[in-house]
Amino acid sequence: MKVLRADSRESIVELIGGTPLVRLGKLEPRPGVEIWAKAEFCNPGGSVKDRAALQMVRDGVAAGALTTDKTIIDSTSGNTGVAYSMVGAALGYRVALVMPANVSAARKQISASYGTEIIFSSELEGSDGAIRMVRQLVAENPGKYFYPDQYSNDSNPRAHYLGTGREIWEQTGGRVTHFVAGIGTTGTIMGTGRRLKEYSARVQIVAVEPDDALHGLEGLKHLPSSLVPAIWQPDGIVDRRMPMGTDEAWDTADQIAHEEGLFVGHSAGAAVAGALRVAREVPEGERACIVTLLPDRGDRYFTPLRWEKLYEW
Ligand SMILES: Cc1ncc(COP(=O)(O)O)c(C=O)c1O
Repeated sequence: MKVLRADSRESIVELIGGTPLVRLGKLEPRPGVEIWAKAEFCNPGGSVKDRAALQMVRDGVAAGALTTDKTIIDSTSGNTGVAYSMVGAALGYRVALVMPANVSAARKQISASYGTEIIFSSELEGSDGAIRMVRQLVAENPGKYFYPDQYSNDSNPRAHYLGTGREIWEQTGGRVTHFVAGIGTTGTIMGTGRRLKEYSARVQIVAVEPDDALHGLEGLKHLPSSLVPAIWQPDGIVDRRMPMGTDEAWDTADQIAHEEGLFVGHSAGAAVAGALRVAREVPEGERACIVTLLPDRGDRYFTPLRWEKLYEW
């Protein structure tokens, strides 16, 4: 007799999504103001971007735009690259990534470990330079690539509309009052925000962004000085944009590691810092259920130790 286990899957990609909500109880300013965090580092590729990558690939296959003779190519600040690499390897597609030369060593090496080709763009031009380079490669090689373009692809926010937003509504039993998240491609905030607004127009959607073009919040984008993503359509979805300083975000990342045992990346620190500001503003006597999102774990920003075994004993 075949034994079926509820926790067995046919492929790693089926483990994407369905992440837990974790309460940040020690950070709550007073009883009645709850802060919860969506633990996106629990995705198998280690970040929130697994959701968008899988949705873009699946929708590309369904539309006939992605076939097995093509290479998936995109620009990425790192986590999307890891996600494409994992999804591509699991589903049988080649992957090439363009990334600024100065993204963390760990992220470059993780993507390469899946067999992905890494192409470097100028570190002086940041993520916009990577976008320009990938567009040029695609234009020069017609038919070679499938270019999902996470900044313009509706499947990116759709992943969060179908997954993240529905999950948060269900996990809070419809009690969520605020959703606070950082913005990079803006897929997370647009898709989750749209879904939550459909459930209840009263849910407040807060987009946290770096307060300066030069910042230390990898994964997040300072929109006033950037190419604005086509999927960023905040009207009716985003109630508030909240500029966040690097120091406050980094300090908050340290605080949640020390006080909650959650060692997360700096964009998660920014999102939680935003949630804390919102929590402190809740008027006396009112209740709130604030949900934020932790895109990845802090150890993604360390250099892996894998090659130590090459040293002579
Ligand atoms: C670490 C990290 N945080 C936040 C984000 C932002 O998410 P989104 O692109 O959905 O706006 C990203 C996206 O690349 C990321 O890598």
